[in-house]
Amino acid sequence: MSIAARLQFWLIRLFSAHLGIAALFRMKVLGIDIGGTGIKGAPVETRNGKLLARRYRIATPKPATPSAVADSVARVVRHFAWKGAVGCAVPAVVKDGRLRTAANISRSWLGVDAARLFSEASSCTVSVINDTDAAGHAEMRFGAGRRRAGLVIMVTLGTGIGTALFINAQLVPNTELGHLLLRGRDAERWAAAIVRQNEKLSWKKWSRRLDAYLHLLHGYFWPDLFIIGGGISKKWRKFLPLVTLPTPIVPAKLRNDAGIVGAALAYECGRRRRRRTRAG
Ligand code: BGC
Repeated sequence: MSIAARLQFWLIRLFSAHLGIAALFRMKVLGIDIGGTGIKGAPVETRNGKLLARRYRIATPKPATPSAVADSVARVVRHFAWKGAVGCAVPAVVKDGRLRTAANISRSWLGVDAARLFSEASSCTVSVINDTDAAGHAEMRFGAGRRRAGLVIMVTLGTGIGTALFINAQLVPNTELGHLLLRGRDAERWAAAIVRQNEKLSWKKWSRRLDAYLHLLHGYFWPDLFIIGGGISKKWRKFLPLVTLPTPIVPAKLRNDAGIVGAALAYECGRRRRRRTRAG
């Protein structure tokens, strides 16, 4: 073989090896974010967090019983004619695919193996994670928490208050710090974004409540960064300047897509963990 032919041979081999390795890290997962009012999904390229198609949103069924929500998950899967992996985010504590709390959802969810229920309804392999843990994953990988070491707390403000705690980018799952006691009651009942609407509070009044809540978290954890997410975070200019914390505090970057992207990422992390467990 001539030198040129040999060179060409090795270049082709190197290039195909590179393609093979890249394919190993490239994974497409359908992310689905199950919220109180809407269920949104889109296929996600987990390598870069990009949505591969326009989000599809349907209203959350009323009542949002396990079987009704499972049907909606199957609808989203059908919409994308999806045959691969699915990651779902839900507003509850999730242990091994089972829902363990039901603060803002029907109590009929308690103990339900949602991963299994959704897998059966959609004929796909489905993983399930807490919604704020999912959003936190997405922010840590591609958003406001990118390359941030130390202790980072993501707080989502909506119907409830969700929290996701990261130590050097490692999630401590299911922290549920929105239910800490503040002024004698569940903090989310006093300071969640929906309380501002329901009680018609001015931004200033509601910000004081949020500030008190964040000071409570700060006093317990002394984080290095707070990330504020949830629908209200797009209006961060109205309230973040009124927060008096000594800790840096920033709005989430991925906004509405964080739950979808994070649910997809969580599927991928779970897959890697499962592989490591099997190998070990
Ligand atoms: C739930 C959390 C959830 C948060 C945001 C709270 O009421 O207990 O699990 O992450 O709402 O949806």
